[in-house]
Amino acid sequence: MAGRQVQIADVTDEAAQDAALRALAAGRLVVVPTETVYGLAADATRDDAVLKIYEAKDRPRFNPLIAHCSDLAMAERFGVFDDRARRLARAFWPGPLTLVVPRRPGCGISELVTAGHSTIALRIPGLDPVRRLIARLDRPLAAPSANRSGRISPTTAEAAASEVGDRVALVLDGGPCGVGVESTIVACLDDSAVLLRPGGVPRGAIEEALGENLRRPEQVTDDESPRAPGMLSSHYAPRAKVRLHAAGPAEGEAYLAFGQTPAGARPGFTRNLSASGDLREAAINLFAHLRALDATGAPTIAVAPVPDQGLGEAINDRLRRAAAPR
Ligand code: TXA
Ligand code: MG
Repeated sequence: MAGRQVQIADVTDEAAQDAALRALAAGRLVVVPTETVYGLAADATRDDAVLKIYEAKDRPRFNPLIAHCSDLAMAERFGVFDDRARRLARAFWPGPLTLVVPRRPGCGISELVTAGHSTIALRIPGLDPVRRLIARLDRPLAAPSANRSGRISPTTAEAAASEVGDRVALVLDGGPCGVGVESTIVACLDDSAVLLRPGGVPRGAIEEALGENLRRPEQVTDDESPRAPGMLSSHYAPRAKVRLHAAGPAEGEAYLAFGQTPAGARPGFTRNLSASGDLREAAINLFAHLRALDATGAPTIAVAPVPDQGLGEAINDRLRRAAAPR
């Protein structure tokens, strides 16, 4: 797919880290692994670098991006944390949680990262070598998922390379993502905590850490802001159509199972998110299995019902978007 073969290098390799640092410092793009999905990263303080993210993804509009920080001290240089935000940061960082907080005035973040809003989305990713890279750059990395706009998020270096490999200086390889769905996004803005996107930290864990329930975002339509690609109705979309809540495949369909694989599912056209019904395993497998079933060329991927508890909320959110009309 890529015109030239992009270099894929082990993220723990010192020479690869040095090369990534040089590329980022020069305003170029680098694919970085995270525990959730692979990210398409640029120096978040440079307009010219962040603009390349939008171009590389073919993002139609300027949707705000997450600024990935090395530690809480860096995050507090760019955002203003209230008690709730600090409590969540302490409980879940580094990890698959993104906090939307007021942007610190004059912090130097590119306006293309915040898309003109007075708020900023911050996260400290889980992988040590990536946090070290950010600490050495001494600036946050803006990084959306490393897929073309609207498509399936990559959970391996190879999948990321096939999406954006022709548009980046280097792909850093951290192995398959250990969480597999994007971070949970929580806004801590005005004396409340609002769940903007379900993700790798289940709602219940956040509510337990806060000692209060998360609020739901006001109904956000596709034309309002602040907006999230996560809130666009069609997203994470394979080429195939997606049919949800399917007890089994119809004639010609590929099948994404959860739990027991039904009789009649054709080998080669069937993947199981988790044969034992484990939602953590299902989240890890979700995007890779969707990619694999899409590659079979079947016109439709039928998907088994997945329980809506715990990580199931994030999985079902992604599946609904994959199935949404385009
Ligand atoms: O796990 C993840 O979060 C991955 C990895 C790479 O870190 N990143 C990711 O980025 O999913 P992206 O760009 O696909 O999603 C970022 C989400 C979008 O839904 C965006 O609208 C929302 O964060 N967002 C960013 N800034 C925001 C803000 N100020 N207010 C509300 N939402 C914001
Ligand atoms: Mg994405």
